[in-house]
Amino acid sequence: MQQQGTEIARSTSVGITFRYEQGISLILMLPSRGWITLVVGFAAVVVVATLVSCSAGKQVQPQAPSYVTSGKFTSAHPNLLAAAKDYIDTYPTHVQQPIAFTHKVHLQNGMQCTDCHKGVAEGPDATIPNVQLCMACHQVIATDKPEIKKVAAYQDKGEQIPWHRVYWFYQSAHVKFWHGPHIRAGVDCATCHGDMKQQTVAVRKEGLDMKFCVDCHRLHKAPTDCTACHY
Ligand code: HEC
Ligand code: HEC
Ligand code: HEC
Ligand code: HEC
Ligand code: HEC
Repeated sequence: MQQQGTEIARSTSVGITFRYEQGISLILMLPSRGWITLVVGFAAVVVVATLVSCSAGKQVQPQAPSYVTSGKFTSAHPNLLAAAKDYIDTYPTHVQQPIAFTHKVHLQNGMQCTDCHKGVAEGPDATIPNVQLCMACHQVIATDKPEIKKVAAYQDKGEQIPWHRVYWFYQSAHVKFWHGPHIRAGVDCATCHGDMKQQTVAVRKEGLDMKFCVDCHRLHKAPTDCTACHY
């Protein structure tokens, strides 16, 4: 079973490499061949992926790692359905989180994004606050609420809350992203993340594809060469 899985996963990654070249030749407006192979090949991957993921009997979130346990992306896929989703670049919009956190309530109470996402203006990563920051308030605020008891339990165990990532890119897309230049150029968080005042846990805004990035870069005369965003 394991052996078979590896075989198929390997052929999937060939498909992804092939598409990458296809993508480049499309962008460069070169005549591209092999579309039929691509479509038939992909259909086969989807069928196999669906069969395997059903027989495996458990759902794994496609490559959306936890901040605490990994933080690093690997090129491996947890299952073949995830590989297929990578292939067509679909991302989950709603992610199950360990605590029913609410952006809405904290923002209504006057908190700023940077109170919790401290790295956003400087570094590549916005960062997620650690449990100590939560407990600085929740030592005394809403201590009787079940969700706050769960937060306190993580602190008591000396653990961080294992949040799952909402925004990320498949490693096969080789995209690099920095917050810093955008925040310094005055781009509003909502342009890319939607209105957080309407969100409890963060919900991924759809359409963060290459066109979205490049259109705005053209408009603002920001870099549009491939290596600005790809490694
Ligand atoms: C600056 C203080 C402050 C910080 C820091 C803070 N919170 Fe809160 N939090 C509040 C306030 C105020 C409320 C609203 C309490 C109420 O409605 O009774 C709240 C409400 C909540 C609720 C809803 C509780 C309920 O069921 O009604 C959750 C869950 C929560 N916070 C989790 C967190 C987590 C997780 C963190 C850390 C990432 C955090 N909070 C950081 C002040 C804070
Ligand atoms: C130009 C689009 C854009 C803007 C503007 C933007 N973000 Fe992001 N954000 C992204 C992308 C893309 C990712 C995923 C990055 C990755 O996987 O490398 C992300 C990831 C994140 C993450 C999770 C990962 C991390 O970086 O730690 C947080 C939190 C976040 N953004 C908060 C913010 C806040 C707060 C603001 C405004 C102050 C903001 N973002 C503005 C596009 C944007
Ligand atoms: C009280 C702390 C707090 C404040 C204030 C706050 N956030 Fe968050 N944010 C969190 C926590 C905790 C998470 C992880 C849970 C989740 O995904 O919702 C998170 C997650 C996110 C994510 C998804 C990160 C990922 O995994 O990709 C984005 C985007 C984000 N916040 C944007 C914002 C923006 C924009 C603001 C201001 C308008 C803001 N946040 C204000 C605590 C906060
Ligand atoms: C709403 C407009 C807007 C969107 C959308 C946007 N960007 Fe940007 N981006 C900018 C601006 C403005 C700069 C700053 C240029 C400067 O500092 O000269 C920038 C800078 C960057 C830089 C730094 C480039 C360098 O070499 O200095 C990278 C990397 C980048 N963006 C990647 C992305 C990616 C990836 C996306 C899509 C997920 C994206 N951007 C979406 C406006 C945008
Ligand atoms: C402003 C940022 C930006 C620039 C400039 C840019 N890209 Fe992209 N590119 C992206 C983003 C974001 C994605 C979407 C990744 C996803 O959704 O998984 C992407 C996706 C792709 C993909 C599909 C890869 C896959 O596996 O999904 C190819 C191929 C690609 N870009 C090639 C190029 C080439 C060639 C250039 C130069 C002509 C270029 N890109 C310039 C941001 C950029």
